Amino acid sequence: MSKRVGITETLFRDAHQSLLATRLKIEDMLEVAELIDEVGFHSLEVWGGATFDSCLRYLNEDPWERLRTLRKYLPRTKLQMLLRGQNILGYRQYPDDVVDAFVQKSIENGIDIIRVFDALNDIRNLERAIVATKKAGGHSQASVVYTLSPVHNIAGYVQLAKELQEMGADSLCIKDMAGILTPSIAYELISSLKKTIDIPIQLHSHYTSGLASMTYWSGIQAGVDVVDTAVSPLALGTSQPPTESIIAALQGTPYDSGINLEMLAQVTKKLSKILEGYKKPPITVDTEVLISQIPGGMLSNLRAQLEQQKLGHKFAEIVEEVPRVRKDLGYPPLVTPMSQIVGVQSLLNVVTGKRYSVKSKEIKDYVQGLYGRSPVEIEPAIRKQLIDSEPLTNRPADLLEPGMAKAREEIKDITTCEEDVLSYILFPEIAKAFFAKR
Ligand code: CO
Repeated sequence: MSKRVGITETLFRDAHQSLLATRLKIEDMLEVAELIDEVGFHSLEVWGGATFDSCLRYLNEDPWERLRTLRKYLPRTKLQMLLRGQNILGYRQYPDDVVDAFVQKSIENGIDIIRVFDALNDIRNLERAIVATKKAGGHSQASVVYTLSPVHNIAGYVQLAKELQEMGADSLCIKDMAGILTPSIAYELISSLKKTIDIPIQLHSHYTSGLASMTYWSGIQAGVDVVDTAVSPLALGTSQPPTESIIAALQGTPYDSGINLEMLAQVTKKLSKILEGYKKPPITVDTEVLISQIPGGMLSNLRAQLEQQKLGHKFAEIVEEVPRVRKDLGYPPLVTPMSQIVGVQSLLNVVTGKRYSVKSKEIKDYVQGLYGRSPVEIEPAIRKQLIDSEPLTNRPADLLEPGMAKAREEIKDITTCEEDVLSYILFPEIAKAFFAKR
């Protein structure tokens, strides 16, 4: 029995987000875009995640314009984006009308597949985006965020996947942002999923700990339909396994991707040349993550933050505090925005010397339930240290007033374009500064 495995190439999104702090510029992407369009990838991840913020904040690019340009240069390949559920591409929850409009505009401007995840695996935070994607004619891929903790297990992930399929997801993504999914657990997890759900399964991992290529091979043998890889000049380290190596590994097996390696060689060569103009970190394997379970991106952000504040010498102590804060918070997976919330609070706990004597607004909101349900209930003793009131049980977005009309009114003298209104809602100050420069 032969079963072709699809490849999603991540170089325009996750790969440069992981290795180049999301700074790859559109003109450099276009140097290789037409070649990439010929390769025959299942899809290309090109937008969402941190790219939207980075375009406006650092690259002086309109993220919507970037998407339209990529669509034009990549007419044959499906384009994919990463959406943070009810948090869209920002760091807090947005009302349903904003989620609907954002999804609609993403698809209108060229996206085919919207991969949606929620940091807490709270399906109430995914439903609106899934429904909106399907309504706008897109493919909705729902994610299960993979993490390790005393309260996470395969049965829980399978149950979640079943609910996501029932909610209307067209495919499922196993999102292993920390790169800690091992080959044997992947085999067990995918085998259980295959017995329970019918929608295609895509595996997304990071090479961080050195496991990901083995995990892909083992996941593929258990029935994974698509894997995420990055072309070699932007692979390895905290990015994805190398596309070329995975393609070669599948050649001559029942899982052959059907992609011709020679075609890709030109992309590899050109991209290596382009990257000479960027500061790429040396490729390392971080085996520490296998014990600490702290994603590489979170560690490097934390280190940068500490160095800025001349607190670099506190790094080791703060890294030790992270798992304790995570436990206190009911074991949230360490992915945006939870990685930031846990990171900042760990820093505050260490620097003040008294745990939770200073707390961020975000951690209070989280304990209040404003980001969704924690994986397990937070112990009342901890909760009382963080907030004075009872936590909410509603879906957090139910508490939010509609946002589109208000935002349109606020910036009507600057712009009336709907895409601009959405940029403004997500990043008000940065978007306004960008409009002024444009
Ligand atoms: Co990723």
